[in-house]
Order: sequence, then structure tokens, then C-alpha cells
Amino acid sequence: MAGSIPQDFIDTVLAKVDIVEIIDPRVTLKKSGANYSACCPFHNEKTPSFSVSQTKQFYHCFGCGVNGNAISFLMEYDSMHFVDAIETLAESVGMEVPRDAAQKRNSDDIKPLYTLMASVSTFYQSQLRQSQEAIDYLKARGLSGETAKRFGIGYVPDGWDTLQQHIPGEDQALIKTGMLIKPDGGKRPYQRFRNRIMFPIKDSRGRVIGFGGRVLDKQEPKYLNSPETPLFHKGSEVYGLYEARKAAQDHGSVIVVEGYMDVVALAEHGIENVVATLGTAANEQHSQLLFKTVPTLVFCFDGDRAGRAAAWRALQATLPCLNDGRDAHFLFLPDGEDPDSVVKAGGAANFNDLMATRISIVDYLYQHLSDDIDMSSIGGKAQLAEKAKPLLKTIPAGVYKQLAMQRLEALIGLPLGPSGGVANSGNAQNSLRAGNTQRPQQKTEGGLTIMSRAVLLCLQHPEVAIQLPATSAQSINTELAGAPILLQLITGIQSDHTITTARLLERFRDTGQHPFLVKLATKSYWPDGRDLDQQTAQTEFEWCMQRLLERSQKTLRDQLDPASGKGLLGIGRR
Ligand code: GTP
Ligand code: MN
Repeated sequence: MAGSIPQDFIDTVLAKVDIVEIIDPRVTLKKSGANYSACCPFHNEKTPSFSVSQTKQFYHCFGCGVNGNAISFLMEYDSMHFVDAIETLAESVGMEVPRDAAQKRNSDDIKPLYTLMASVSTFYQSQLRQSQEAIDYLKARGLSGETAKRFGIGYVPDGWDTLQQHIPGEDQALIKTGMLIKPDGGKRPYQRFRNRIMFPIKDSRGRVIGFGGRVLDKQEPKYLNSPETPLFHKGSEVYGLYEARKAAQDHGSVIVVEGYMDVVALAEHGIENVVATLGTAANEQHSQLLFKTVPTLVFCFDGDRAGRAAAWRALQATLPCLNDGRDAHFLFLPDGEDPDSVVKAGGAANFNDLMATRISIVDYLYQHLSDDIDMSSIGGKAQLAEKAKPLLKTIPAGVYKQLAMQRLEALIGLPLGPSGGVANSGNAQNSLRAGNTQRPQQKTEGGLTIMSRAVLLCLQHPEVAIQLPATSAQSINTELAGAPILLQLITGIQSDHTITTARLLERFRDTGQHPFLVKLATKSYWPDGRDLDQQTAQTEFEWCMQRLLERSQKTLRDQLDPASGKGLLGIGRR
């Protein structure tokens, strides 16, 4: 999505906002030396290790390692999508995100729809207070007024036009949001939801984008959801994320259940880090969305056949999202139970006891695959390996993948070889690191190569590259691992001397190098962690550039005449 907003605009917004002003209202900051600090909002701690640098426009937690710029902060703390984060920041400095005419029209059209949906939701809540039948229904299901209020649960009376009467003159907009249905043949629109308990579905900013409506009796369909609208895309939203976010971040995990009632019943019993998919199986978009908020997902399914099928789809959708640091578990409830019935029968303790029986995604993977395989036979083991390979391939390269492969090796009693035949294809990521292993460079005490050191210095002290002569940059061999990145940084710095760490990093957000660069932006230059002052940074940078120039010349000679010690140009090796 970054592609739809010009990089220039993002850069200008980042140059105008002050990260301290963005973070401070959300997490109170204290001045401490050159920086600001606080207890980290992304993990539990008693002493502050979350640090915000105004000069770099960058935050970093020395405890849990999170870091990033103002955009990343909103994405992580407020669980915003990238585009929403840019919009929020732009608004805060009085700028408007440029859109092409079509998009602009679209966004102008959409804004009032959010306001309208908010009014609809308020109306439904007021109707709930007036319907004894609806109140009794929710009470009978064990819901307190407090929880109903927290989730904005409402009620829509029976009839065809309650909504239009309350919100007159808005039929067209109400049709667009899916709240009204327009019949063919010029008949009057009527309301989609009638005589139902209404669960508002919110986006990550807390705006109402759709509804799920439940009948109060045994009628069919039991649930009715908003259709796809400009605001609501069922496949990429989950129910309850806005309400669950704080608890989810505190726990570091979110529980994914199947039903609206499961989310609110668990919340009623104090289990608040819960969301539900909207009557669809969990897909990759759902997992990615949730992993933006927490490192661990726990999928909870009914123990019946449908639950098992949905669980397997959730597994397939989640494997590709398992970057290092993330994890997923599966909890299967006894047949015939759902989370709502579990807490109703025995409270939170009952649910937590069952929670202890959850299994890891890797265990579930092999358990499911070997279900109908005779694992005592050689053929069975080979079969398991064959079935597992395509799935293992979808896990991103990293520790998690290695552990999953080790587990398979243990199960079949055979080593699979270095990549196990399940390496990810075309891994352009980590080109800097991969390059380093192919072409060993001099390692420094801190384990950083010269190239990494130069890149680190540009990121942390952009001023070091301001005076670098153009001829130096041009003489760097672009085939040296990491050179294109270094050159891009130098160009960025030289075209704007006031550029910050945050703005430099932003240019790489959509590239495979971003995670690595973010790490370099916070890594200590010296192995002992001591500070690097401006003057030393300058000297070090010049030293690194000198080494890189020498290496560029040497590489050039080697390329011209790799065999002899002397190059074609007659320059001998030193
Ligand atoms: P209760 O019966 O009220 O406890 O509902 P539940 O939340 O436990 O629902 P259930 O487990 O039956 O279904 C899980 C989810 O599937 C629901 O929350 C809905 O999102 C969806 N769903 C269930 N029934 C229907 C239906 O009839 N139509 C549609 N569109 N979705 C449904
Ligand atoms: Mn239920």
C-alpha cells in the first residue's frame, strides 16, 4: 500500500512531525539526558528501557528490542495500517495525503460513511436500552451491562424502516454501507437487519465499519453480517481487535475464536485478549493483521469436524507469517463446546485449564499430517516427509523454520541435509548478510563488517556523509555486498543535510533490507556499548570509506585478471 502514497510526501510528513509529540500523549515520556524515556509500552517492565531520540526521530527499547519511527509507532501501538498511520501523522501537521483524482473522490465519499455508521451504532445502543426483550436475552446469556457497553452492543427493532425514520434523508449512504437494501423495480429501500442483537464491527482505529446481527430466537439465519462495502471487507477484518488491543499487548498474545458471543463472553470473565474471525476461516491477512499487534496467536476451535477443518486452514494461513519471534498455538475444545459455554460452565478458570492443553503449530502440523500414516513403517516416514515439505517451504527462513525441520528429522529419524530441500526460493532478503558470507569481509571486534559499519554510521549520524566527495561515492564498487544500500543512504543525506535516521529508514520500509537496517540503526557501534560522539563518528566513517575504496579497487583488479597476481592493467597486488 505504501506505493499509493508518494515517498516524497511521506518524507515531508516525517520531517514535519516530532516523534516526541506523537508518543508522549500515548506513553508519558520523561527527559533523560539527550533522549526521552519511559517504561516500554510493548513489554512489561518496572524500570524504563524505552528510549526516544528527538534528533534521530526514532524510538528503541533496550529491553525487548522494538524500534522504529513515528509511522512504526502508530502501526504498532495503535495497530494502524501503514496508510492510516501516514494519514494520522499528516493530519497532525495540517497536511493532506495527496491522492489521484479517483482515489480522492473515493476517500471524500467514504469519510461521511464512517460518521453515519457511528450514528447507526449509537441508535442501536439506545434501542437496546428500550427493549426489555433484548436486555433479557443478553442477561440470560450472562452478559453484564458493562460488557455490552464496552462492545457497543445494540438492538435493532423489528420493522422495515426503523433506521430510515431515525436517520432520514440518508437512504443512499445507508445503502452504500449495507444497512439498507434497495429492491429492484423502484420499490422503497428497507433495512437489512430487523429484530436482532447488533454487534458493531470496528476497524483498528475504533471506527464502526459493519455489523453482525443475531436473532433472539431460533430463526434462520442465526447471524447476519454486513455485506462487503467500501468500509467493510470481511476477509481482512476481525471482530473485537479494537477492544482487545490493550490486553493483547499486555499478554503478548491474542486468542482467535470463532464467534461474536465467544469474544464477549470471555471478556465478561476477564479474558480480554480475544478476537473472532467474521464467520470465515482465518486467512493469511488475518494472521498478518494480528501479528502486527502481538507476537503470539492462539487459535481456539470447537473440537468438531468443522472446527478441525477451520483449524487446518488457519495453520496453512499462518505458516507463511512465522517470522522469527512469532509463534502460534492451537486449542481444541471438547466436542460440542465453544468458549462461551466453557466460561459459562466454569468461569475463566475452566477456560484457562483448557488453555493449558493447547499445542504448538508445529506439533499440530505433524500430528495432523501423520493422522492417517503408519509412522512405524519406513514408507510412512517417507510419506510424512513428502507431505510436510510443501508446508515447511512456506515458513520464512529463520530459526522457526529450522526448529520445524529438526522436529521432522526427529520424527523420521533421518537428517534432511543443510536446507532439507525446503529452502525458500529467490530469497532476495538479507542480501547484505548473504553477500557477506559469500565474500568474507574483515570482521571487526563487534562482529560488524566494514560495510555494515559505514551503513550504521550513515543511519545513526547522517552528518558524517555530508562532506563526502562525489568521486569517493562513485568509486565504490556496486558489487560489494551492501554497496547499493550505502550509496542510497549517502545520496539521501547529501540531497538533504537535515535528514534524520527515521526518514532514511522509511525509504527502505518495503524492502527486504528494512529489518536489518532497523537493527543497525539501534546497534551500538562499539562492542562495549559506549556512546559514539559526532567527531569520532566522522573519523570512523572516513576510515570505513577508505577501506571500502581500497577494496573496490582490489575487486576491480581481481575481476580484470582473477588468475594472476597481476591484473590486466599491470597493477600488482599489494
Ligand atoms: P451463539 O449461538 O450466539 O453462541 O453464537 P456463536 O458466536 O457461538 O456462533 P457460532 O459458533 O454458531 O458461529 C460462529 C460464527 O460464525 C458466528 O459468530 C458468526 O460470525 C458465524 N455464523 C454463525 N451462524 C451464521 C449464520 O447463520 N450466517 C452467517 N452469515 N454467519 C454465521
Ligand atoms: Mn456459541
